[in-house]
Amino acid sequence: MSRVEPGPVVVRADDPRRAEFEARDWHVTARSWGAQLDRRASDPASLRDLVARVADVAAVRELGEGDAPAVLALDAATRDDYPGEVATAHRPLTRDRATPGPSRRAFGALASGELVAMTFLDVDESRAETDFTTVAAPWRGRGLGTAVKAASVLTLVAEGVTRFRTGGSADNGASVAMNRRVGYVLDEEWITMAPPTETETPAAPGGHPGRTTTIWHLAHQSDWRAAIVSGSYRVSTRGASLDDVGFIHGSRPHQLAAVAEFVYAADDEDLCVLVMDEQTIRASGVEVREEDGGDGELYPHIHGPIDPAWVLDVRAAWFDSAGRFMVGEPDVDAAPRPHGPDADPGVWRRSE
Ligand SMILES: CC(C)(COP(=O)(O)OP(=O)(O)OC[C@H]1O[C@@H](n2cnc3c(N)ncnc32)[C@H](O)[C@@H]1OP(=O)(O)O)[C@@H](O)C(=O)NCCC(=O)NCCS
Repeated sequence: MSRVEPGPVVVRADDPRRAEFEARDWHVTARSWGAQLDRRASDPASLRDLVARVADVAAVRELGEGDAPAVLALDAATRDDYPGEVATAHRPLTRDRATPGPSRRAFGALASGELVAMTFLDVDESRAETDFTTVAAPWRGRGLGTAVKAASVLTLVAEGVTRFRTGGSADNGASVAMNRRVGYVLDEEWITMAPPTETETPAAPGGHPGRTTTIWHLAHQSDWRAAIVSGSYRVSTRGASLDDVGFIHGSRPHQLAAVAEFVYAADDEDLCVLVMDEQTIRASGVEVREEDGGDGELYPHIHGPIDPAWVLDVRAAWFDSAGRFMVGEPDVDAAPRPHGPDADPGVWRRSE
């Protein structure tokens, strides 16, 4: 008889209990983050700008009781679109939770009268906590998510709210970027840990089937092309090799922008992001260690060369005119990339 373990658990990434769970072979199944925006740091002019720039697409306004049917319809259409696991799961709205009120505020964007984006916040005197933000799938990527969040901050700051909190899945690049644009600052990292189960048969030694924990590595496209030909990638980070450092720098998706803007900002070479799955790397016998990147934050360091066969996708990366790090859309045709001397390494282009 084996012990019945509860689970999964969600703990802060730096929680001391994490080591105990790991010693009992619990593993990380998802990562999430928390972020804060303080009224003092909010910039009303730029928030107004974020709302104004969608004026041609939709009308942004606060939602009221009468909007509840449209809220329920948009929630039903998007309820399966939230990435992550228990820590970031979205509970389908009840009529009660879909009805805005004094302590449950909502802001929406309407295109030709149809509700296409909304954000809900629970407000307790001077504090506001975002419950969720969602945009109808055909309307994503046009600034609407950012606009409704910006509108919520503008309105509530004017009413005396001083502290806003939000959070999401580390695999949700759009949500990370949206909140960053509104002025939220990431200040918490959470992990979801699950116990080993008897029914699971690892896909390979050390592998955990059905779980993915993504690692991103920023590379010069020229180095990646050379690795495809040689069958091994050995660059640790800009200007340093695996042999120099002892490991290859990796990041979780939400961590890469800050690293890139710090390390690669003045780099003229074409860049790309190598997308890997941590379990695949571990299954091949190469160690991945969560180590301090020198700024107090933990990053996944790959203690060995990268086998091009681990790379599930290669995404173009660049800096926009304002110096912000951008990552192109996944190249769905790229996985898995062939490697070896005859392989065509291809070119990774921006998706703009
Ligand atoms: C997350 C979500 C609300 C974003 O709304 P949106 O209207 O598509 O986002 P915006 O157009 O305002 O873009 C926000 C930022 O994300 C970036 N972005 C958009 N799509 C992206 C993607 N697929 N990957 C990475 N970044 C992306 C944009 O470039 C923009 O960043 P920038 O201002 O620095 O250029 C929307 O994707 C969604 O509804 N997802 C499903 C529900 C969900 O996950 N909600 C969040 C958790 S509560």
